[in-house]
Amino acid sequence: MQRSPYTPGQIAGEIYGRDRVLEGIRRDLSFVIVEPHFVGRISVFTGPRGVGKTSLLRAAQAFAHDKDFETVFVTAGDAPLIESLVSELERISGSWRGALADTLHALLSSVSVELGPVTFAGELGKSRVVSGGAAQLQQLLVAAGKAAAERSSGLVVFIDEIQSSDADGLRAMAYAWQHMQAENPELPMALYAAGLSHSQDVITDAVSFAERFYYEYLQGLDEQDSTSALVAPAKAKGVSWSAAALEQALSLAQGYPYFLQVIGDCAWEAAGYPGAGSTIDVAQVQGALQRFEQMRSTFFRARWQKATEAEARLLTAMASLGEGPVKRGLVAEAMGKGSTDISMARRALLDKGLIDATSHGFLAFTAPGFAEFIRNETGSE
Ligand SMILES: Nc1ncnc2c1ncn2[C@@H]1O[C@H](COP(=O)(O)OP(=O)(O)OP(=O)(O)O)[C@@H](O)[C@H]1O
Ligand SMILES: [Mg+2]
Repeated sequence: MQRSPYTPGQIAGEIYGRDRVLEGIRRDLSFVIVEPHFVGRISVFTGPRGVGKTSLLRAAQAFAHDKDFETVFVTAGDAPLIESLVSELERISGSWRGALADTLHALLSSVSVELGPVTFAGELGKSRVVSGGAAQLQQLLVAAGKAAAERSSGLVVFIDEIQSSDADGLRAMAYAWQHMQAENPELPMALYAAGLSHSQDVITDAVSFAERFYYEYLQGLDEQDSTSALVAPAKAKGVSWSAAALEQALSLAQGYPYFLQVIGDCAWEAAGYPGAGSTIDVAQVQGALQRFEQMRSTFFRARWQKATEAEARLLTAMASLGEGPVKRGLVAEAMGKGSTDISMARRALLDKGLIDATSHGFLAFTAPGFAEFIRNETGSE
């Protein structure tokens, strides 16, 4: 018996189908090592829920660590962005020693004192965080970059769920980064972010000059990468997939990374946690089907329940128009409304990650099969 190599609901152990994106990050950081400099361009990896954004950022972080960078990883949304950054910087730099580290510690504690025991909900706290705003943040980041550069290759900052950042924090971050590129071009620092597909809207709303940000849209995996995602982890444990079993599993997952992990995991279990030399065959995929369907509908139901009545009406109208991306105007029409009447529900559904704005004016479901689930649920089929 061997433990399943698949990772449903966890950071992917191995990242498939992201070679080009990862290569770009590796190249950036390698150039920083060869010739220390400030990477002014902020890359934002966007995509629907479950497509692998966090896994990608974590893989980039692991690479940065391997290359001897100090890293800071924050997930926006739980607290004001700057507050999260400050506590992460405090955490990683606690053991740093020397004059530059002392400067950083002094700045961190003065910012912390100023922050006090603020909570996210406290409006007063929020405004205090940004008092001094970008300038203070810049001072802090410069100190962190210098202290990191002294002891490592530099400092890499990762921001996940950037669409959930507070606007003040985003603005301060963007301004600080812009000024640093002009004033501290020799500092070895880089910033990578990830967020839902409408991150660009959120960032542009908060930051008037947003041209520092470059967006890279992550899609589901194509057939070849999906195949690798199923086959390679099994192969590493001496287990193979039959061609027919693979074909079935691929059609169930439809390239959606989370479903690939679920079907792989369910088939592994149905195969009795196979030992080296075994093969996963059609029978095992069939055996996994019930659990896969169960996990998938739990996943859909959890999302469906997050929708308010007005949002559910929008989802129902979308589902009535099929699986693929649909024009926003058509959805409104199906609801008997004008396109702007549905803006609020649309935005709320984007924020919740239930729908995705794939390209201008189009809306899509974030996971394959969700439209069908809604049609069944609402009895509209
Ligand atoms: N490149 C990949 N290849 C194979 N599996 C992947 C890949 N990326 C992610 N996964 C798997 O897909 C699932 C979702 O990954 P992850 O949490 O990174 O996605 P996400 O886009 O951050 O989702 P969310 O928007 O919900 O935060 C996990 O089960 C993970 O193991
Ligand atoms: Mg994530």
